[in-house]
Amino acid sequence: MINDVERILISEAQLAERIKELGAQITADYAGKEILAIGVLRGAVVFMADLTRAIKVPVAIDFMAVSSYGAGTDSSGVVRILKDLDENIEGRHLLIVEDIIDSGLTLTYLLENLKSRKPASIKLCTLLNKPERRKAEVQIDYNGFTVPDYFVVGYGLDFAEKYRNLPFIGILKPEVYK
Ligand code: PRP
Ligand code: MN
Ligand code: MG
Repeated sequence: MINDVERILISEAQLAERIKELGAQITADYAGKEILAIGVLRGAVVFMADLTRAIKVPVAIDFMAVSSYGAGTDSSGVVRILKDLDENIEGRHLLIVEDIIDSGLTLTYLLENLKSRKPASIKLCTLLNKPERRKAEVQIDYNGFTVPDYFVVGYGLDFAEKYRNLPFIGILKPEVYK
């Protein structure tokens, strides 16, 4: 698995440091409030686990699965709800947690869908932002790292369901996905 990685883009230590900062910023911004963190399955799971533990106000968690990618590397633009929320979100402060914003199509769909359920507020926290690939504008409230247009894996991010358990963000060797 590790042999498929060309190089490490963001190390385990860099991830931990940045997540600590994001947690402190979110804690300050939500003082006196309770958060409902919504993780977007499956990529956000690893980041969600670390981020929520870095936040010091009460955090409830729920998950949604909204898939726009198949086994390939490109977004089809087709968004499907594979699993909806279990929680009622009306009047609550939502923090959507994503591993990466790429084309922005997944989040554009998801934000519209969630807004219609009348939450008190919605903010978006993404670990990675790849603006070069944007097709739909998305407002990101908390951004871990802006990354160039490499095929990145690890720390939740997959290629064909592999590499999610790497503890760092790595760049995949082109021969692996070509
Ligand atoms: C990936 C990633 C984001 C989305 C970003 O998920 O985790 O959710 O694509 O792409 P976009 O900005 O172009 O919409 P994917 O559909 O691969 O599912 P996964 O999280 O289960 O890997
Ligand atoms: Mn995802
Ligand atoms: Mg994926």
